[in-house]
Amino acid sequence: MITKKILLLGSTGSIGTRTLDVVRDFSESLSICGLSTFGRCDLLTRQVEEFHPVAINVSDPSKAAEGRSLADTYGIKLTLGEEGLAELIGICEPDIVVVATVGIAGLIPTLSAIEYGADVALANKEVLVTGGHLVMEAARKQGVRILPIDSEHNAVSRCMTGADSAKVLTTAGQDTFKVRRIILTASGGPFRHLSREELEHVTVDQALNHPTWRMGPKITIDSATLMNKGFEVIEGHHLFGIPTYKIDVLIHPQSIIHSLVEYVDGVLLAQLSIADMYLPIQNALLFPERLPNRLAPLNLASLSALTFEQPDMERFPCLAYAYESARMGGTATVALNAANEVAVRRFLNREIPFMRIPRIIRETLDRHEQLPSDNIEAIQEADRRAREVDEAI
Ligand SMILES: NC(=O)c1ccc[n+]([C@@H]2O[C@H](COP(=O)([O-])OP(=O)(O)OC[C@H]3O[C@@H](n4cnc5c(N)ncnc54)[C@H](OP(=O)(O)O)[C@@H]3O)[C@@H](O)[C@H]2O)c1
Repeated sequence: MITKKILLLGSTGSIGTRTLDVVRDFSESLSICGLSTFGRCDLLTRQVEEFHPVAINVSDPSKAAEGRSLADTYGIKLTLGEEGLAELIGICEPDIVVVATVGIAGLIPTLSAIEYGADVALANKEVLVTGGHLVMEAARKQGVRILPIDSEHNAVSRCMTGADSAKVLTTAGQDTFKVRRIILTASGGPFRHLSREELEHVTVDQALNHPTWRMGPKITIDSATLMNKGFEVIEGHHLFGIPTYKIDVLIHPQSIIHSLVEYVDGVLLAQLSIADMYLPIQNALLFPERLPNRLAPLNLASLSALTFEQPDMERFPCLAYAYESARMGGTATVALNAANEVAVRRFLNREIPFMRIPRIIRETLDRHEQLPSDNIEAIQEADRRAREVDEAI
C-alpha cells in the first residue's frame, strides 16, 4: 500500500493532536514528514519522538532556542517563525498538507502547499474567509484538492456528490446546479438561550465551556458568538462554488446531523454521526476511501430527538455580519476576520466584555475601505489596516 506523507501544521492543537490519532491508527497508509507548533515545544518533543518527522517549525520567536535544541537533539531540520511554515513544504515534500493552524497565519502556507502541488486538508477556516478566491483558483490551476476537515463541509462534500465526491472537490461549482441550498448545522454554542442583556455579562470561562465540542480557545469563542458559523458560510461558498444566499444555517443542539444538502426536487441528503473530529479528519486524509475505524458507531435508538431552530441574528449579530461581508465582496471578509481575531484575543485576555466582540466587528466593517481581493498583498494590507482600527476601538 502507498503511504501518504503528511505535513501537519499546528500539530499541538486540538485538530493537530486528533490528526495524529488518525495517523497512528492508519500507520500503514499515513506517515508524518513534518510538524509545527506556535510555542508548545514540550508537546512537540513527544510528537517528534513518536512520529519521526524530517523537519519541524516553531513559530513563536521567543521559543526559537527551544526549537533549536529540539532539532539538534533529534537530528532533524528546523524552520522558525510563521514565515518558516511555508519553508517546511519544500523540505518535507508532502503528499498532503494538513493546515490546522489558527487565523490568517494559515493562508501563505496553504498557497505554498498548492503551488508545490500537494493536496490540502483544511481545518483552518480563516484561510478561505480571507483568501478563498486565491486558494480555490490556485487549486484549480494546479489540479490539487482542497479537502475540508471542518465537519460541516466534510459532511456537505459527502452529501453533495453522492457517487462521485472526487469530481466536486476538484471542480467546485460545476456540479452544484442541482443543489437548491446547503444547510449548515450549528450547535448554537453555550449561550443560545441567553437574552441580549444576559449576553452582556458572560465570562470567559462560561464562553470556553462548549456544550458538544472540545476545541481550541479561539474557535470555542467563535462558536459562542456564532461567528464560527458565519465563517463556515463563507468557507462553503468558496469550497462548493455556491452563493452565500443559498447557504442557510440551522441550530441543531444535538450535533448529530453535521450538515445537509437540499436538491432541486426537494430531497435532502444529510450526514449523521457521533460528534468527533476524528471522522472528518480520517475522511480527508484517506479520501476517497471509506475504512473501518475504532470509534463507537452512532446509536440512533438512544437519541430521544433531533431538533432544529432558526438562529437569532439579533442576539448573535456576528452571523449577520459574515453574510454582509460576503455580499460586500472585495476585502470585506478580510476585515471581518481581522476584527474578529483581535476582538477574540482581547476578550480571552479579559480586556473587553463578550458583546464588545460584535461591536468591534460592526465598526470595522463600517470603516472598511475596499481593496481588490485578487492578490495576496492587498489581502495582507486589508488585514493590517483592519487590525489597526480594531486595536484603537
Ligand atoms: N478544534 C476543532 O474541533 C475544529 C473544528 C473545525 C475547524 N477547526 C479550525 O481548525 C483550526 C485549528 O483549530 P484548533 O481548535 O485545533 O486550534 P488550537 O487548539 O488553538 O491549535 C492551533 C494550532 O496552531 C498553532 N498556532 C496557533 N497560532 C499560530 C500561529 N500564529 N502561527 C503558527 N502556528 C500557530 C498552535 O500552536 P500552540 O499549541 O503552540 O498554541 C496549535 O498547534 C482553526 O482555524 C479552527 O477554526 C477546529
